Amino acid sequence: MIQSLNIDKTLVLLCTAYLTLSLTFLHTTEAQASEEDFDKNVETLYGCLCACAGYPVTPCNQSAECNQAFKLSAERMERFLNLNATEIAYLWGLEIEAQKAKRLRRWWYYTPPVIRQECRELTEQKRSDLFYAINYLKKNTSNPNVYLLLAKLHRGLYVDRHAHGGSNFLGWHRAYLYYYEMALRRVRSSVALCYWDSTIDYRLGRNEWVFTNAFSDLLFGNADGEVINGAFTNWTLPSPNEGFLLQRNMRLGVSQPMDPAAVSLIIHSLQLLNHSSITKGGSGHLTITNSQGRTRPVILEAEHDNVHVWVGAIMSYIDLAPLDPVFFFHHCYVDYVWERFRQKMKVQGKDPTTDYPSLGTESHAKDYPMIAFNWYRNIDGYSDFFTDYIYKYDEPPTCTGYFATCQNSPFMECNSENECVAKKRSQLVPPIPPSISRTFGFSDTVLVSLGTEGEDAAVSPSLTVTGRSFSANSNSD
Ligand SMILES: *[C@@H]1O[C@H](CO)[C@@H](O)[C@H](O)[C@H]1NC(C)=O
Ligand SMILES: *[C@@H]1O[C@H](CO)[C@@H](O)[C@H](O)[C@H]1NC(C)=O
Ligand SMILES: *[C@@H]1O[C@H](CO)[C@@H](O)[C@H](O)[C@H]1NC(C)=O
Ligand SMILES: *[C@@H]1O[C@H](CO)[C@@H](O)[C@H](O)[C@H]1NC(C)=O
Ligand SMILES: *[C@@H]1O[C@H](CO)[C@@H](O)[C@H](O)[C@H]1NC(C)=O
Repeated sequence: MIQSLNIDKTLVLLCTAYLTLSLTFLHTTEAQASEEDFDKNVETLYGCLCACAGYPVTPCNQSAECNQAFKLSAERMERFLNLNATEIAYLWGLEIEAQKAKRLRRWWYYTPPVIRQECRELTEQKRSDLFYAINYLKKNTSNPNVYLLLAKLHRGLYVDRHAHGGSNFLGWHRAYLYYYEMALRRVRSSVALCYWDSTIDYRLGRNEWVFTNAFSDLLFGNADGEVINGAFTNWTLPSPNEGFLLQRNMRLGVSQPMDPAAVSLIIHSLQLLNHSSITKGGSGHLTITNSQGRTRPVILEAEHDNVHVWVGAIMSYIDLAPLDPVFFFHHCYVDYVWERFRQKMKVQGKDPTTDYPSLGTESHAKDYPMIAFNWYRNIDGYSDFFTDYIYKYDEPPTCTGYFATCQNSPFMECNSENECVAKKRSQLVPPIPPSISRTFGFSDTVLVSLGTEGEDAAVSPSLTVTGRSFSANSNSD
């Protein structure tokens, strides 16, 4: 069901100006930009980016200012992300595209944003285009490999401390998805990301979660060990795990999909009207009670952590997680939930673009340059730019009304509460056989319970992992 969100033109223009003015290295002033300043700065940046995109092969000689900006930017990318010149040049190329998009959207106001839908609601054609583009990024043998480059942006201590555990979590990942989507659109210009609303899987009931057909040959592939069916079959892992395949480790009793009760509070509760109240380290959190009677605060990032642990293996490690494409489908849903929260704030007269609470380490501060996306400051991730100009969200499928069919998705059905619930693999027509996992696993009919509640997912014993793992909330279901 396509729902168009409200656009307040004045706000949009201001925010776009605000975003563009935040060229941290060129401007240090508070971004109360006039239209004129905006135009001037876009021109400077645009020319500057074009001239410098070939860095360091093409010397950047536009101006001393421009040179300095790029030097600083490249240094940060080298230092924090360990990127080399070729990789930096690719990302700058994407940045040029981002700038072009900004200009285009501003001058041709009605260039339609793309629509991000639930992955299971995509037509077969759309789904196969998207999966094709993702596979292309992974398999394009030109240098640098774009999939690995993008995955690298989520790796290492600096990024971890900058993008998790506080206010920058939502904005950083929004920018990250935007870059990923731009890269995908270079392969197939029509594609948009899709989101995986795992509350639909949650409704299967705790003992059946592992059977969801989201993890089947027709969608994301099996979740029991090495991924040997579905769209990402036989995906290999990069150093230091070359020789291994992408793997998952979903098990009964280890973490959970997104909890519909938590999501519903975030989207609808009028007690949650500032970002602090849904952010790690913030105040005014609401609590929910799990099936064992234990309570936990409702925090969007923490609810998201659970899914990383639930999918398990690669997905459960911060340094590795984006190597599993499910990362982006899951984050796209987190971004959708946040967008609904932002819309609620607006309806209640609050401005989500300025309500940046600066919770977390110092690199979560409002004006801190966004690591990997150097042209933004952290607060720019909260801008309206993305969802006014670049993409909009379709609502998840529903079961209400006369035609209660979950928008005819073959992957879901209506339950007795008029909610869409994932079908099990065995319910697909024709039924998807259980995968024959080469490492560890479960079948569609036999449950193997290996973990205890709240335990981190295990990895294949010989996988090399650096960095932190996501932790599931111990009071989840
Ligand atoms: C700077 O760029 C201009 C063209 O854009 C070129 O003619 C000139 O030689 C360049 N200067 C240096 C020092 O590279
Ligand atoms: C940059 O890094 C990529 C990926 O690690 C590598 O394939 C490439 O050869 C490197 N390029 C240069 C110029 O060092
Ligand atoms: C393939 O990879 C090269 C090198 O990273 C990149 O320049 C090119 O845009 C990629 N092709 C597509 C269609 O994304
Ligand atoms: C995946 O790898 C297995 C084992 O090498 C092979 O039998 C199978 O054909 C491969 N599948 C695809 C789709 O590449
Ligand atoms: C955010 O909202 C919560 C709940 O209404 C409130 O307790 C808290 O003080 C607010 N925080 C800020 C920073 O406004």
